[in-house]
Amino acid sequence: MPQYLVANWKMNGSAEFANRWLADLGRKSGSDRQVIVCAPAIVLGNPAVVAQAQNAGIALGGQDCHAESYGAYTGWISAPMLAELGATAVIVGHSERRQYAGERDGDVAAKARAAHAAGLTAIVCVGESLDERQAGRAETLVEQQVRASLPDSTTVNNTLLAYEPIWAIGTGQVAEPADVAAMHDHLARVCSDLGLPGLPLLYGGSVKPNNAGDLLALGHVDGALVGGASLDATSFAAIIDAAPKGQASGVCA
Ligand code: PGA
Repeated sequence: MPQYLVANWKMNGSAEFANRWLADLGRKSGSDRQVIVCAPAIVLGNPAVVAQAQNAGIALGGQDCHAESYGAYTGWISAPMLAELGATAVIVGHSERRQYAGERDGDVAAKARAAHAAGLTAIVCVGESLDERQAGRAETLVEQQVRASLPDSTTVNNTLLAYEPIWAIGTGQVAEPADVAAMHDHLARVCSDLGLPGLPLLYGGSVKPNNAGDLLALGHVDGALVGGASLDATSFAAIIDAAPKGQASGVCA
């Protein structure tokens, strides 16, 4: 399987920023690594950005979608709308959506199902809070999230599962490689139990050029979901370069 390097720009960027960023990043995708940039939908709507990403072999993704394809949902964007813009992936269930928009596992599953129906790769996020980790409940809670957030439309070809401990997101506090390895081993077992052996598992939470190599070398870590450090093309390029060489042909290519 290739390594998946996903940039999550969150509510940052513009078409001009994207064009410059893509030029600075250069050609980083290859048969053994898949680069996906999840930009604000308004940026995905810029034809020059889409063309430049396609030329560089970089996939584009949204950061959220509605569970319905269309309707009276003011302000939302649906999965088919993202697909029409040229996106091939979408993040669902990011902890910031769970926290600020009150999304629950059932909502996340419905959104992932909508993404699949629109032909998008769903990047499904799960992760525990610091209190939950300190109480020794991280694996149990994350397993529950996974079981309830992956819809029955999930296959190893249409989904990436991202483990992002909430306390490590945007804090500079990265999880210990041993803890990441233990969680990813556990998630690999859970996925097998769900009939999804080999589902790509990404780690996210303060991934930076100086820790990416150690994290991406861990067993069952098939890529990274990168927030803050992805806004700087040079940093993101260094993270991509830190990924070990994988094998060809993944999802969302
Ligand atoms: P971070 O964000 O890399 O800034 O911690 C990761 C994420 O929110 O996906």
